[in-house]
This record gives sequence, C-alpha cells and structure tokens, in this order.
Amino acid sequence: MVERGDRHSGGGEQGHRPGAEEHGANGPTAHGAAGGRAAAYGAAGGRAASAPLLGREPEPTLFELSVPGRRAWQLRSTGVPETPLEELVPAEHRRHAPPPLAEVSERDLVAHFTRLSHRQFSVDLGAYPLGSCTMKYNPKMCDTVAGLAGLADVHPAAPPVAVQGWLRLLVELEEALCAITGMAAATMQPAAGAAGELTGLLLMRAWHRAAGNVRSKVIIPDSAHGTNPASVTLSGYETVTVPSDARGCVDLRALRAVLDDEVAGIMLTNPNTLGLFEEDIAAIAAAVHEVGGLLYYDGANLNAILGVVRPGDMGFDIVHLNLHKTFATPHGGGGPGAGPVAVSARLAPFLPGPRPVRLAPADAGAGTTGVRYGWEMPERSIGRVHSWHGNALVLARALAYIQVHGADGLRRVAELAVLNANWLRRRLAGILDVPFDRPCMHECVLSAASLEKATGVRALDIAKRLLEEGFHAPTVYFPLTVREALMIEPTETESLQTLGALADAVDRIVADARAADGAARAAAAPRTTPVGRVDEARAARRLVPTFDARR
Ligand SMILES: Cc1ncc(COP(=O)(O)O)c(C=O)c1O
Repeated sequence: MVERGDRHSGGGEQGHRPGAEEHGANGPTAHGAAGGRAAAYGAAGGRAASAPLLGREPEPTLFELSVPGRRAWQLRSTGVPETPLEELVPAEHRRHAPPPLAEVSERDLVAHFTRLSHRQFSVDLGAYPLGSCTMKYNPKMCDTVAGLAGLADVHPAAPPVAVQGWLRLLVELEEALCAITGMAAATMQPAAGAAGELTGLLLMRAWHRAAGNVRSKVIIPDSAHGTNPASVTLSGYETVTVPSDARGCVDLRALRAVLDDEVAGIMLTNPNTLGLFEEDIAAIAAAVHEVGGLLYYDGANLNAILGVVRPGDMGFDIVHLNLHKTFATPHGGGGPGAGPVAVSARLAPFLPGPRPVRLAPADAGAGTTGVRYGWEMPERSIGRVHSWHGNALVLARALAYIQVHGADGLRRVAELAVLNANWLRRRLAGILDVPFDRPCMHECVLSAASLEKATGVRALDIAKRLLEEGFHAPTVYFPLTVREALMIEPTETESLQTLGALADAVDRIVADARAADGAARAAAAPRTTPVGRVDEARAARRLVPTFDARR
C-alpha cells in the first residue's frame, strides 16, 4: 500500500495459552462478577495493556536504503580459485546491466521489516475484534508442529509410500472435521472460505445435474456476507435474497414464498451475521428440502457452536470451514489459508480429488509393509480446486489445534467466545444502540445511529478513534441491514481485562463525541497512528499492485 492510512492500532491481548481450561482465570465467574467499570476488572490483577504503533515518519523503501555493493549474505573464502563469469556463461545468456534490485545489508533489511511490523496491527500484538472475520490468537504450538521437518520438507509429489504420516494427518483431519460438523466426507483443497463457497456450490450443481435437474436459483438472506452472492454468481446461479424479520433472523414466510423447483439451495450461516442464532433452522431445512433444494452452511461463524451443535444435525448438506477462523490458523492477508468443504454422504462422490483415504488391507500393496493410506479420485468428482493438496501446512496446524483442545476444549472455545460477546453487548448497551437486544452468540452488532443523529459522529469515526486508543477497529457498516453498524467479535482468546479496556475506550470515545467540538476531533482521527485517515475506497477502486523504484 503506497497510500498513508489504514485502520491499524495497538491493543492488549492478555496471556492466552492454547489449553481451554487456562481461560478459566478469565472465565464465567470472573465475567459475571465484573460490575462494568475499569476498577472492577482490574481488581484481581491482570491489568490490560495496549501497544501503540510506532513510526510517524515515512519508512524508506529498500531501494532508498540501497547502496551499491552492499549484500545481505557473505560467502567464506575457501581457497577455490574464482572463475570469471565470462568463462562460464556465454555472452548471449549474460545480462548487460545488473538487475534493478535493492542492495542492503542483512542488518538494514531486518531493521526495515521490524520497523514496518511496528506500524502494523496483528493478532500477536493485541485484541482484534473484527466481527465476522474471527481474528483470534494463533497458538505458537501449531507453528512448531507445522515446522517439523517431516511435514515441512516434503514434496507434494512424493509417492504415498514415502508420506504415510502426511496422508494419515490429512485423513485424521477430515475425520475430525466431519465429527465436528456432522458430515460424512470432506475435501481439504479449497484455499479459503470464499474458495470453499465456490467449491460447495459447484458440488450442489453437480449433484442436481446428476439427478437430471438443472436448477437456476440459490437463496441467501439479506444479512449475508458479500462472498455468498459473489460465489452464487461465479457458480452460474442467480441469487434470490430473502429479508430478515424483526428479530434479525430469516423471515420464514418470505422464504416459503420464494421456494420452488428452480431453487438449487440456500446458503446460510448460523449464527447469522448479526451474531444471532437462526432459531427456525429446522423449519428452514424442512422447507428447502421439501422442494428438492440443498442447505449450504457458511462456516465462518462456527466458533459460536463448536462442540455444542452440528450443522449436519441442523439439516445442512454442505459446510465450508474457515480453518483460519475457528481453528486458529494464520489468515495470512488473503492466504495461504484453508477452507475445507464437508458434505453429507449423498454428495461425497462429487468431492474434488484426489482425496487422501485409508486403504482397505487388500489395496495396501502385496508385500508392502506399513502402507495404510493412499489417494483416491471420487467417482463423480468435480475435479481439482487447488494445485496438489491445498495449503497443507495450514491443515497440519488445524489438526494440532483440534487435538490439543480435545472435544471438551473445543466446546469451551465456543462457550467463552459467546460469553465474551455477550459481556461486551451488555457493557456497551446505553453507550451505543443495540439493534437486536437479545442474547447474541460469538459476536454482537451495535449501532452508532443515535450518536450520529445527535452529534454527526459515525461508526467509521468510532473505529478510527479506537485505533488511537490502541485497539484494532471492529468491522463497520456490515451487516448492511443495520445502519451505522459496528460488529464486534472479541473471540474466546481475550481476557476480561482486555474486554474491559476495549469497552472503556468505546465509552470514552462516545463521551468525547458528545462533548464540545467532539465531531471535529472524531473526524480528524486517527491522529496518533503511523498512518492517518485515508480515502477508504480508493485503494480498492484504483488498484496499484506494482512498485517501480525507477518511477
Ligand atoms: C460470514 C462470512 N462468510 C464468508 C467469508 C469468507 O471467508 P474467507 O475470508 O475465508 O474467504 C467471511 C469472511 O470473513 C465471512 O465472515
């Protein structure tokens, strides 16, 4: 990004460790007892801290730091005589001028990137309450697992006999994800949630086609994430939108009115993007199945129900899982991520392949010892959706996360995620509007509509002011169905002290907005971060993906 400005700031994540019980120190009792003011959450120690981002001056590019001849490496002298390049490479294959690369020492290189990292917010730095995106702390133990030589140093084309451990890992992850979702089989190939959506819709299409049905429409609720209608269009279907009712859930009557034999299926996330559980899910499933449609589960919000209820038991046929959300693998700025897709038994023959499978003893190869796993192409496969086997080291991290938590630990993740969101919802009620004032799941949607009416200060201004306070901003203006929306998802990884500090910061910001000249101060935010207020839309509308030092 060449422009100055982004919404990043410091925050205060508090000593999360991977084991679920370890959250106990900040657990239900402590949450319930806290009255709602700073002193109360500090009483038991564990003060919240936030880290301001550093660097107001522009950071020079590597090209600006470059000095001819400087190198980030050195080779020891060996006594082997040097041969001139001209003797080794024919003239027609030699460059006439050196490549335009930055020439810097290792020391300057490391300092450059370290300085840059201090200007950027990350899950390792502090609370990242970005609703719907589930930005939770990634335990370092999972990185250690993914770095093991037996996993990291393997070529994806290695023959099955040489990679039995990897194959077992993939099979065990598939089994775990199927047990968690209540599905029969899964593909690990898709690279993110959105890639999983497209894969799932292609599976829906293949299944209908195989049954001789060419259907044209997929239903999505008006609160859906933007990737849902985008994936519907990419997969060749037409989107039909159903409205939410006054409780923020799918309007069942409106849904029934659009159901016919042209409907291939419905895409839902449950809890939905308002953080509310779709209580009519069984009736929705029955109505869609009755017209021969399928139910697609957008797993972005699985964090809320992990180990408590399964999409398969709610009637879903296809589920994508954003491993970088629920299973705490790196999101990685667009990748490499993983969005496995799990399906019910009737859709399994259509899954992308080849798939890792347990081999029946007879297939294990006569005389071959220890070969228990291999690759198999599902009989009616839609084909590959990723090169090789997907982003395999992300998959290894997810299995480590699942195994270290165990079934009870995963359930505790969901319980704490829901508890944290409800604590914030109650604490912020009265400071901001609460459009749907009933218990939420893992995230809560608040609104700055009244504040805007009274002061002109908008949700975006609050987000920018939070950056000055040392917190990453929540998601704003989503879902589209709520005016001046602020969507807060604390996740289970944040302590009571951090939740309290975040709520206190919002409280201060709103009080300041109502004070004299508050609107002007809010409009100028963020003033203390390395990057100030930016044109929010320009980077998306005028994409400049290359940097040329010579220009
Ligand atoms: C509800 C919902 N669906 C789908 C997605 C897309 O997931 P991904 O970012 O993994 O492509 C997101 C992303 O935040 C989401 O919140």
